[in-house]
Amino acid sequence: MNTPVTSQLQPLLNATTIQERVSALGAQLNADYVQSEAVRVVGVLKGAWIFLADLVRQLDLPISCDFLGVSSYGQATTSSGVMRMTTDLNDPIAGLDVILVEDIVDTGLTMRFLLKTLALREPRSIRTCTLLDKPSRRRVPFTPDYVGFTIPDQFVVGYGLDWAGAYRHLPYIAIWQPQDG
Ligand code: IMP
Repeated sequence: MNTPVTSQLQPLLNATTIQERVSALGAQLNADYVQSEAVRVVGVLKGAWIFLADLVRQLDLPISCDFLGVSSYGQATTSSGVMRMTTDLNDPIAGLDVILVEDIVDTGLTMRFLLKTLALREPRSIRTCTLLDKPSRRRVPFTPDYVGFTIPDQFVVGYGLDWAGAYRHLPYIAIWQPQDG
């Protein structure tokens, strides 16, 4: 058992609530991209892969998927603001309608960095879709195009989101709190 024992989890969003919202987001994307000839769904590793896997199965569009990895230097629960791409996309995105899928938008630094970087590759369009949004934590102005849930300033885990590598596999989302904190 590799789950840290010094933490406690307080459920925030259960699996049914998440699945219903993911279905609704899928329906919205199906309507918005009905005219598109080629949609590239880009997941930000590692946090977005579970959300992306559920989301794309709601899509009735000509899609393909790709992934990239980003890292920010800094402590576990804060973003330092210095970003770097650790894994690049496999394929070009020129001329495609890109949907950038993220697990959570916190300071907005990751999305700002990625939008700036990917825009240079001349996609036909690029929009952002995040499962969770913590707007109260923004350090740079950024509004995602599609949001699953807006949540308060709490550190959350599960459904792809981790604390120190743990909890990604949980089918629900919980607030993570140190036991003695
Ligand atoms: P941003 O650049 O500050 O918007 O941070 C986005 C990234 O920070 C996310 O993709 C997560 O990897 C991480 N992150 C921010 N808040 C949380 C959280 O509450 N739980 C887990 N990861 C988080």
